[in-house]
Amino acid sequence: MTPATSSSDAFVFFGATGDLAYKKIFPALQALLRNGELDMPIIGIARSGWTLEQFRARARDSLEHAGPVDEEACARLCRQLHYISGDYADDTTYARLRSVLRDARRPLHYLAIPPSLFPTVVQGLAASGCARDARVVVEKPFGRDLASARALNRVLHGAFDESAIFRIDHYLGKEAVQNLLYFRFANTFLEPVWNRDYVQSVQITMAEDFGVQGRGGFYEEAGAIRDVVQNHLLQVTALLAMDAPVGHDAASLQAEKLRLFRGMRPLRAQDVVRGQFEGYRDEHGVADDSNVETFAALRLHIDTWRWAGVPFYIRTGKCLPVTATEILVDLKVPPLAIFDTIEPPQSNTFRFRLSPEVVISASARVKRPGTAMLGQSVELVARRESADQQSPYERLLGDAMRGDATLFTSDASVEAAWAVVDPVLDLPEPVASYRRGSWGPEGAAALVSDGEGWHDPAPGPEDAGAAPPPSAH
Ligand code: BG6
Repeated sequence: MTPATSSSDAFVFFGATGDLAYKKIFPALQALLRNGELDMPIIGIARSGWTLEQFRARARDSLEHAGPVDEEACARLCRQLHYISGDYADDTTYARLRSVLRDARRPLHYLAIPPSLFPTVVQGLAASGCARDARVVVEKPFGRDLASARALNRVLHGAFDESAIFRIDHYLGKEAVQNLLYFRFANTFLEPVWNRDYVQSVQITMAEDFGVQGRGGFYEEAGAIRDVVQNHLLQVTALLAMDAPVGHDAASLQAEKLRLFRGMRPLRAQDVVRGQFEGYRDEHGVADDSNVETFAALRLHIDTWRWAGVPFYIRTGKCLPVTATEILVDLKVPPLAIFDTIEPPQSNTFRFRLSPEVVISASARVKRPGTAMLGQSVELVARRESADQQSPYERLLGDAMRGDATLFTSDASVEAAWAVVDPVLDLPEPVASYRRGSWGPEGAAALVSDGEGWHDPAPGPEDAGAAPPPSAH
């Protein structure tokens, strides 16, 4: 077996002429090359029947699309590129891959292909010997429910050891998401209040002001819960709510995350409000009577000693008023109104804005100048940055090549996350329609029974010099 720490020496990606490769993978490869982390053959595989020259042109096109091209890195990338055109079900495709891999001992195979093709490719890699001592990166969605995720894990385990499987969730590669974990466990002041005694509720909103962007066919098979809740938003919830890992290694972190996922109570229909934006059914690839949700609001309970009784509200949707992802942790109000009974006690909050820019802040109450003991909320900002310095794909692919699984999802965690959403996938009740540019169907408001309702993230990017954006208080 290859030791977990030895670096990969060839990068193979399936789906090389696809959308993901164009938008994310080539730019990440250019960045890795620039950092000296990709001194190895880069082999693209696809069914498109292109020539190597066409493939190189596509790579250049992708880099131009992503931003200013680093001519030197682009030229190196093109020199290191190989292209195999072939059917994924055909043995000769893998035989050709074997010969292009030549002396490579620890290839990394990245499956940037539709999930229905995962089993075919994994079996092809195993039968041809290309899986030996190799690693595999698997794109989301990892299955479409608990049963299919289990089946996919079985297929992968038939060819790869769990330590060689890297289930990618690009949210875990975001700087702001890593900072969530860092901020929680590198500061003493947070831990004493981070529990049911002090936290009233937690809200996580991932809002997008655009629709399905031509991905109607894909979206019909997914819907918001499969597309972003089961993975991105439950992962964020896990990092926000888990206990501290007991060691420095990836396994310790995975173990605590898994414990947290297992504490999440499976959702019931009454914990979920599903919506669909007006006009979704006119999108290309969408059924005229589609009941797929483009909006979901959920009330999640985590049955652990730390969180029993604290609701976690999660909301996401397409065609909402803003594009922003934000977490608001609302603390309980002080027990008595000491200063002035005109002003009821108000709570403090912690705010983690994950995108479009990164903000970590807390709200505090201070006295307004004057004779009256009246207060106002101020925002204490710990971090405010315009955006991620490094793309999540650059970070995660680099980690996978080094064999570092810290920011990837384990077999047990992915299944535990599916178990949470499984009961509310494909609910038969009709989705509620909502206006484009609104905060979803009206029923979503009723889900939040405490405090002041949903906290709507401000449009971004927030101006660093400006006054704090409006909060729920
Ligand atoms: C993807 C979903 O996984 O994440 C998309 O398939 C969604 O529907 C996207 O728009 C959001 O990612 P980000 O990084 O732009 O917040």
